[in-house]
Amino acid sequence: MADLHVVALPGDGVGPEVTAAARMTLEAVARLRRHRIEWHERDIGYAAWRRSGAAVTEETLEACARGGAVFLGAVGDPRAEPLPPAQRPEAGLLMLRSELSCFANLRPAKVDPTLAHTSALRPEIAAACDFVIVRELTGGIYYGTPRGHDAEAGRAVNTLTYTDAEVERIARVAFDLARRRRRHVTSVDKANVLEVSRLWRSVVTRVAASYPDVTLEHMLVDRAAMEIVTAPGHFDVLLTENMFGDILSDEAAAVCGSLGLLPSASVGGAVGLYEPVHGSAPDIAGQDVANPVGAIRSAAMMLEHSWGLADEAAALETAVSRVLAGGLRTKDIAGGGAHVGTVAFAAAVTEALR
Ligand code: NAD
Ligand code: IPM
Ligand code: MN
Repeated sequence: MADLHVVALPGDGVGPEVTAAARMTLEAVARLRRHRIEWHERDIGYAAWRRSGAAVTEETLEACARGGAVFLGAVGDPRAEPLPPAQRPEAGLLMLRSELSCFANLRPAKVDPTLAHTSALRPEIAAACDFVIVRELTGGIYYGTPRGHDAEAGRAVNTLTYTDAEVERIARVAFDLARRRRRHVTSVDKANVLEVSRLWRSVVTRVAASYPDVTLEHMLVDRAAMEIVTAPGHFDVLLTENMFGDILSDEAAAVCGSLGLLPSASVGGAVGLYEPVHGSAPDIAGQDVANPVGAIRSAAMMLEHSWGLADEAAALETAVSRVLAGGLRTKDIAGGGAHVGTVAFAAAVTEALR
């Protein structure tokens, strides 16, 4: 029995819907195992900007740093388009990741056996997909300076920087994870063009020397994008930098059947951050159609990574798989067939926990 303290940031668009769904299932698993969830909600993204003029406030950042774990729905709103960069919803999330120093973003991409036919790929190719993207999250071009847009001069700049230390710590996360899986790391870069990728490659190669039981291969990012759709079963742990990891994770989600399915955990700092891979999906917000599976699986990752509750995490994962195996579908994975809403799907997962 434990007290589990969550700072929840539902955010924008479908964020509040999938957060409520994840909370419902988390409360249910906690009740069954006699844990007490302390759930505190705060604003982030456009929702925060409307209330306070900032995409995330200092108080929220402090509350997150003091929390046991942070759960985030999604940020982003088309109405934020005219805002200056620092006030945009996405800036709030980037600030949060940086403040929490959660440099290692784990994004498992595993095709559920009952969903192989909803993949963008032929089912027999999709079925072999079971890899984890280890994405560096607090460095790279997202954070490099100088940056800026001089509209008068018609020029904009962003900067891609990595240090040995940043690459070494994320590489270690990938190799440690590979040891608990099929012992294969594919490090993805653009070393044929970028100096930063040359550094990346040499540091990863050096780290690999202390993991003789794990095989390492280097792959250029354009080829990796191709292999994810031709041979997803090739990958075990896919280690990459911030922006490549962002792009390849949406591709991996399409292999798995829907962007709504994939979870993530961002670890490495004192407090973990858990969020589905998808965004605020403004095109379907407020309609009770968003797939809550990515968010529910993120809650399972929170149970495991923040509190070491592996059994509880497995129970939640199993409940999701059972509901999918039973044929229940949200619209995105229904293939034009019968489907249920976000709330009904989460309620079914809650039921399947018993
Ligand atoms: P998106 O992920 O929001 O949506 C892409 C497509 O996938 C849309 O058609 C959407 O309807 C669908 N989709 C997404 N989540 C779904 C779910 N749970 N169930 C069913 N369908 C789902 O990406 P976008 O449209 O490029 O971006 C919209 C906004 O979200 C932008 O402001 C972007 O910056 C933001 N964003 C935020 C995060 C985050 O908060 N972590 C991640 C990605 C994008
Ligand atoms: C993600 C999102 C974010 C990212 C955006 C919203 C800043 O796309 O979490 O995948 O690029 O990291
Ligand atoms: Mn993304």
